[in-house]
Amino acid sequence: MAQRMRKKRHFDERMESCGKWLLARGANGILNMKEAAENYRALVDYRAVFGNDHPVDLEIGCGKGGFVCELARRNPDRNYIALEMVSNVVISAMENAERQNAENVRFLNIRAECLPCYISENSVENIYLNFSTPLPKLGYVTQRLTHRGFLETYKKLLKTGGRVIQKTDNRDFFEFSLEEYRACGFALENLTYDLHEKGNPDWNIVTEYEQKWVEQGLPIHRVEAVKGE
Ligand SMILES: C[S@@+](CC[C@H](N)C(=O)[O-])C[C@H]1O[C@@H](n2cnc3c(N)ncnc32)[C@H](O)[C@@H]1O
Repeated sequence: MAQRMRKKRHFDERMESCGKWLLARGANGILNMKEAAENYRALVDYRAVFGNDHPVDLEIGCGKGGFVCELARRNPDRNYIALEMVSNVVISAMENAERQNAENVRFLNIRAECLPCYISENSVENIYLNFSTPLPKLGYVTQRLTHRGFLETYKKLLKTGGRVIQKTDNRDFFEFSLEEYRACGFALENLTYDLHEKGNPDWNIVTEYEQKWVEQGLPIHRVEAVKGE
């Protein structure tokens, strides 16, 4: 019990010390996510947060934040909002941003289902999905982050010509995702089943999970799904 209290206090202290990077934690008090997405609004005011009108990109399921922090470092003229549903994990990501003083990155400790509560329609240029949990088709298909239910949400948030940029090592999940993109009217570009075939391309930022799979010799699949008119 005493140990649990200490853990909690440690967690609270860490959360507070990198609070500058956190935009929100969950849709307060609303448990039903469908209801939250439909009724709760706390839309992020990008200008107020970032102090500029640079384009905004999202990463969904950012893990420990290595990818988004490096992307932000390479692109100081863009802003990034990264989502991660697990509090203990988002803390590591925020500490990463703090170490780097990544002024153009902020975090949402929410589930992707709640995106419409925080992100305005037609306001995002790219959505990155890096090694999203594949989840079994049977019983969990609607929770896959490329299920058409999510894609319809992403379409609303993306500007015309905006992209969902996905990487995964899971072939079954990748094929499923391609079908879903096509069914929702996205055009597919820069599709590859083996991103690292000739070594890692200069422009590719290797994520924590990607590093693991590449070391095991697994091919990495990648696609850009473009929203039309
Ligand atoms: C397999 S990890 C990949 C982490 C990182 N993107 C990488 O490539 O190293 C998937 C991450 O997505 C988060 N995640 C899964 N489902 C989510 C959801 N519905 N909303 C927000 N985050 C989610 C998990 O908590 C986990 O940290």
